[in-house]
Amino acid sequence: MNAIELLKTDHRTVRKMLDELADTTERAAKSRGQLLGRIARELRAHGAIEEQIFYPALQESARKEGDKDVLRQVAEAYEEHRAAVQLVLADLEATDAASIQFSGRAKVLKDLVEHHADEEEKEMFKGAKRLLDKAELAALGEEMAALKERELARSGPVKGTAKAPGALAGKSSAKTSASSASAAARAPRRRGEAQVAGGT
Ligand SMILES: [Fe+2]
Ligand SMILES: [Fe+2]
Repeated sequence: MNAIELLKTDHRTVRKMLDELADTTERAAKSRGQLLGRIARELRAHGAIEEQIFYPALQESARKEGDKDVLRQVAEAYEEHRAAVQLVLADLEATDAASIQFSGRAKVLKDLVEHHADEEEKEMFKGAKRLLDKAELAALGEEMAALKERELARSGPVKGTAKAPGALAGKSSAKTSASSASAAARAPRRRGEAQVAGGT
């Protein structure tokens, strides 16, 4: 799947989940919480592949070509991610799912994400097709799919493939004299491993 197809597929998935969330009521607090967990995971992974791979590649090419429209679109996209994920999503995760306030915030998140995804699809991706050739889009797609998998694995169990945390082999224990070193000492090093433990 090339980069644009991958991102569009993600958009469809998230739009669907946000629609579902908007259809829930205060009485469905438990399923709201679960659904929000899935949305958060998906949105953060999607944001990561865009911010770490797709946007920088696009910016680089746009700079070379002097395409200011695309540079502005990317700058706006970073800000929209910040608003949607760091502000609204973060607030929503801290909101009682049985409250009316949750409904309001869920609606705002849905509106923000839909607006953002629409702009990407209608404007930015057109620029990307202009600035990046097929081979570049394909290579980016592969890189992004791999990062997405890592991000999802890091943020929680993936359906069917629960990976044991901390099972990083490969480091030859050259300097471990105490061979039965306390497992407790090997705290997970990667950031984000201390994920938010669900809702309240
Ligand atoms: Fe985005
Ligand atoms: Fe996107």
